[in-house]
Amino acid sequence: MDYLKITEEYIISKGITPEAETKGLLVYSQDIKNGDCCLPCFKLSKAMRMSPVMIADKLRGGMTDLPAHIERVESVNGYLNFYFDRKAMAAQVLSGVLARGERFAPHASNGKTVCIDYSSINIAKPFHIGHLSSTVIGGSLHRIYRYLGYNAIGINHLGDWGTQFGKLLTAYFKWGKGEQTMDSLLELYVRFHKEAELDDSLNDEARMWFKKIEEKDERATAAYEEFKRITLEEVTKVYDRLGIKFDSYNGEAFFNDKMQPVVDELKEKNLLQPSDGAMIVPLDEYGMTPCLILRSDGASLYATRDLACAFYRKNTYNFDKNLYVVAYQQNLHFKQVFKVLELMGHEWAKDCVHVPFGMVSIEGGGSLSTRSGNVVKLVDVINTAVEKTRAIISEKNPDLENADETAEAIGVGAVVFGALSNSRIKDIVFSFDKALNFDGETGPYLQYTHARCCSVLSKAQPTGEIDCGELIDDDTFTLIRMLNSYEDTVAVAAERYEPSILTRYLIDLAQAFNKFYIGHRIISDDVNAQNARLYLTQAVRNTLKNGMELILLKTPTKM
Ligand code: ARG
Repeated sequence: MDYLKITEEYIISKGITPEAETKGLLVYSQDIKNGDCCLPCFKLSKAMRMSPVMIADKLRGGMTDLPAHIERVESVNGYLNFYFDRKAMAAQVLSGVLARGERFAPHASNGKTVCIDYSSINIAKPFHIGHLSSTVIGGSLHRIYRYLGYNAIGINHLGDWGTQFGKLLTAYFKWGKGEQTMDSLLELYVRFHKEAELDDSLNDEARMWFKKIEEKDERATAAYEEFKRITLEEVTKVYDRLGIKFDSYNGEAFFNDKMQPVVDELKEKNLLQPSDGAMIVPLDEYGMTPCLILRSDGASLYATRDLACAFYRKNTYNFDKNLYVVAYQQNLHFKQVFKVLELMGHEWAKDCVHVPFGMVSIEGGGSLSTRSGNVVKLVDVINTAVEKTRAIISEKNPDLENADETAEAIGVGAVVFGALSNSRIKDIVFSFDKALNFDGETGPYLQYTHARCCSVLSKAQPTGEIDCGELIDDDTFTLIRMLNSYEDTVAVAAERYEPSILTRYLIDLAQAFNKFYIGHRIISDDVNAQNARLYLTQAVRNTLKNGMELILLKTPTKM
């Protein structure tokens, strides 16, 4: 039940305050000592020409017929504070959470489809830390939308086309020996750039090889496909560790034969204009540089492919929303593409959303440039986090069973959480020490709290009736109130494309649980209190577990 909503409805039903201004004002109290939720009356003052204190008093005076869930109301300094019937609310919230079992089933289908373009790595380039955010923000949104009943389509829009492949082939046929790896491919690419600075004919050769790829020359295609295979094999290992999945790997090359209809339609609708031999859609009217559609040599561009791709997604999936989880450096690109779709008259252009995020760097570590060959590989970051975790476990809990598996879960979780915990758009400086702090606001802290719940429940299981009278003190009831907002929190995270809203909630829930845990004996001689607290622990454990899954964290039961 949405207690805020029914309370708001009750306030509005009094007809004392104007409905439009009252809506959205009611909040859960910061300090639960001042009631469970409160209505700050300050914003009503103007419309009602009354002081906030008078408004709160007037409302209080009119509330003689309190609904069942409200025990009492107080008017204090312009705030109207509501005290819930905590016992009844605890019973309702707990039975609701516990009825869902240890693993919450996803909501019934809402019939809506959302496409999510994420990770979208580039072939033959290292899977570096610059792709971490897209991978985990998109991966988390994919799980969140699925949970909420959407048909969520995860798409890895591979960067598998472009003149750089001509360069790579040139280098490969000149200097490549035997089996290639991601590292050797990077070396070849770096060497090409070094040598091409001295010998421009290499660039001609690169153009020749790229042409051969376009013409599907056997030798060129075989090498190009091999690079693709090597890359996908390597990244899949990382995806598996992160728990990331895709429904499609259709990337740039997939659209090679699907751009002509877009170009034709642009022409037909008089949107295309020549410019220095190239073809563009001018966008100066909208404060943007033009969208490049065809180069002077007739070659298509990144934007041309993304236009064809948007049509393909609309036709194939008939999406309600089409999300692109891509760094903010591409803000202009997506604005241009979406604008062109709009100018073409497709009303679904409004359903295309760029979900941008900031840069990730490692405290004290390396540049991200591929060309210099000086990259921070994601797998190295993950391995380092896992190794460090393994060392912490050896020191703190040397007898832990499955220590390697647990270290993997925690180490990976620390990295994932590091990229999900800030609001997307902020740049992140990742620090191993901070991410692995079991007492900080971290992935390991959530995992530790979850394991703590499991440990309590391994000592005793709740049975029979819950005496909710045991769950109404402030610290305990805070948890009840939080459990009740889980679903809303997940919905808001999806609405704003912001998994950090859920990470914040889970940290708050974990902190509230630990406060409760320290302040109350769960296992005790008081049978009634023990049973109620065990039920609460179970509800917290289940909610943490489900929320953590939505942000890609594993939930070991011991650590
Ligand atoms: N491969 C690109 C990059 O690494 C991201 C592609 C994003 N998706 C798209 N449809 N443009 O920057």
